[in-house]
Amino acid sequence: MRIVSGIQPTGNLHLGNYLGAIRNWVRMQDEYSAKGAECLYFLADLHAISMPHSPAELASNTREMVAALVSCGIDPDKSILFNQAQVPAHAELQWLLNGTARMGWLNRMTQWKDKAGKNREGASVALFTYPVLQAADILLYQGTHVPVGDDQKQHLELARDLAQKFNNDFCPEDAPLFTLPEPIIPPEAARIMSLRDGTAKMSKSDPSDMSRINLTDDADAIMQKVKKAKTDPEPLPATVEGLAGRPEANNLVGIYAAMVGLAPAAVLAEFEGKGFGQFKPALGELLVEKLSPMAARYRELREDREALDAILCKGALNARDLAAPTLTRAYEALGLVRG
Ligand code: ADP
Ligand code: TRP
Repeated sequence: MRIVSGIQPTGNLHLGNYLGAIRNWVRMQDEYSAKGAECLYFLADLHAISMPHSPAELASNTREMVAALVSCGIDPDKSILFNQAQVPAHAELQWLLNGTARMGWLNRMTQWKDKAGKNREGASVALFTYPVLQAADILLYQGTHVPVGDDQKQHLELARDLAQKFNNDFCPEDAPLFTLPEPIIPPEAARIMSLRDGTAKMSKSDPSDMSRINLTDDADAIMQKVKKAKTDPEPLPATVEGLAGRPEANNLVGIYAAMVGLAPAAVLAEFEGKGFGQFKPALGELLVEKLSPMAARYRELREDREALDAILCKGALNARDLAAPTLTRAYEALGLVRG
């Protein structure tokens, strides 16, 4: 087993990122590194240049994201934590896979369609080939399990198709090069919604800061945001079915459940018949209690540039070693001569 996953260093981590992605990384790290499996987690800084970006911000976001991941529980002694830019094999394997990827496959990607919008002619080539780099990220390490959010399922399917086609086209039948990776999508907390609109995803790109809980929020801000969260006037129902048609209530109960590690039904059993006047302070306090220690570590670590660079440097050395054999075999399989 080998666990591989990445996240773009876009800055401003929020509760959706934590519950939907990072917490799952930490869980898998703790469970599988104890069994001797390797976990590789990286900042997808090469992916970040597929959209207009500020170089200075990318550099500082990359370091901030390392600080955030470590604060949330990624342990650089248990996991290999690095950024793509320090491991050239990612970009190299992407180019090699570009020969196998088909225009038609990439044209069907919903992220490409969403992000390019109506202006496809003006979108970057990197945005179009983004899923090929993502496949390279995983296949380079023979990743078997890839913890991601639901929105990345299609990219994982593409990675499998690429691996399969490359194996078929360029490898002997009894010696395929690439392992077919499986996405691991956490069922609970797969989608945390905005505090202002229960039908929209909690996202850093929402213009209203009140829509999300940030990892950098202090206790007052968290309590305020929960208090002001949109709700309805009804008390909480006895069963999960009773949350149907109440997206905001459903979201807040879901957040509570995810934070305590219980099913929403168990949360409703405790709060049945209570109004938001009672539920919201309980939720706010729970969030403060769980997030404050992480926020405190984060504030301290993000100032320590030397420590952050050392973490990335160590991770990159390990990642390069693990990547080398597969990259060499990919060059050889394609008939590329390298002295
Ligand atoms: P954002 O939507 O804020 O721009 P990203 O797209 O950078 O976040 O996502 C980073 C990671 O966090 C991804 O793995 C994604 O699946 C997860 N994620 C982002 N928002 C949410 C959310 N609201 N609920 C659950 N997971 C989320
Ligand atoms: N595209 C992923 C996202 O936006 C980030 C990512 C890049 C990734 N490379 C990856 C995730 C490899 C898993 C495996 O969330």
